[in-house]
Amino acid sequence: MISESQIEESLKELFETIDFKAEPSGLYNPLGYMIGIGGKRIRPRLCLLTYSLFKDSFCEEILQPAAAIEVFHTFTLIHDDIMDKAEMRRGMPTVASKWNGNTAILSGDVMCIDSYRRLAKAPADKLPAILELFNDTAAQVCEGQQYDMDFESESEVPMEMYMKMTGLKTAVLIACSAKMGAMIAGADARTCDYLYKFGYDLGLAFQITDDYLDTFGDQSVFGKKIGGDIVNNKKTWLLTRALEKSAEMEKSGAIDSGHGQQALLRALDMPVSNDTEKTAKINKIKDIFEVLGVDEDAKYEIIRFHANAMENVGMTGLGKVRYEMLHRYADRLLGRNK
Ligand code: IPE
Ligand code: IPE
Ligand code: MG
Ligand code: MG
Ligand code: MG
Repeated sequence: MISESQIEESLKELFETIDFKAEPSGLYNPLGYMIGIGGKRIRPRLCLLTYSLFKDSFCEEILQPAAAIEVFHTFTLIHDDIMDKAEMRRGMPTVASKWNGNTAILSGDVMCIDSYRRLAKAPADKLPAILELFNDTAAQVCEGQQYDMDFESESEVPMEMYMKMTGLKTAVLIACSAKMGAMIAGADARTCDYLYKFGYDLGLAFQITDDYLDTFGDQSVFGKKIGGDIVNNKKTWLLTRALEKSAEMEKSGAIDSGHGQQALLRALDMPVSNDTEKTAKINKIKDIFEVLGVDEDAKYEIIRFHANAMENVGMTGLGKVRYEMLHRYADRLLGRNK
């Protein structure tokens, strides 16, 4: 086994020493910029962690695939910020706002290719299976992103569809991270599959937390502009639940019409052509969310998926020490405010 402090050290070193081609700088500078700012690195950490459960030391055959996942994830963020018209990411200007949209497209493309170069460093005998997992995952992320965009213009989305979209855009990559570490370490297929499910449930909890923080977080900590989801009419967990719950509460007379479903639908139609209008819409919808109590509901939902995630670890039969390591990792995600 490899200790958590060793994992942290290796993770730090991996991203301190990572390098990208230099020329043309207009293409490659954004890669170093985004990786250098550094996000939370939860995916490579998870990949190294599940590997550590079965092995005693790291080598390039795991470090580079772990880096590949983070590089791939960061590429999806660069493109996501174009799609979501976001100006801030990781507390800094997004690639599209620091450079321009075309740079964000092309630097994103080459970043995706860079991730495959690193993935190819996986042990040769496991590479076909690793590639299959990664390719399936990458395509699913695109599918999830498409649903995410489609849903912007739909007035109401069933919770079931929200979960499907979130599973695709976010949970599968976290699940893939967990499974890949174990696969490279040579764990048996059953264990790999339960670790995948662990990552998937954590990923659902992770995106619900992201949705919560996008409205109720602290911008200086979260590193992204608060209220972006509301401005874009994103069908977040909060809005999806609010649309359901407002109808239920109105029917039972538990809520006044000012906070009911029609009021919420009217608020979704509020204009957002300047900052004053954006702020008015964010405040209005936030107020309805609070009256409905969907902010508190989200917290319960996050805890529920967290518990589901840990049940999968229980199924692996990995034993107490390893269970606790995964539990600490999950707890850290659960308590996040960035
Ligand atoms: C952001 O991911 C996109 C989501 C899936 C919510 P992270 O919250 O992991 O972003 P970084 O990598 O830490 O910036
Ligand atoms: C992003 O979801 C998921 C992917 C990038 C695939 P969000 O759009 O909620 O992510 P943030 O909030 O911009 O990080
Ligand atoms: Mg998005
Ligand atoms: Mg976004
Ligand atoms: Mg978000």
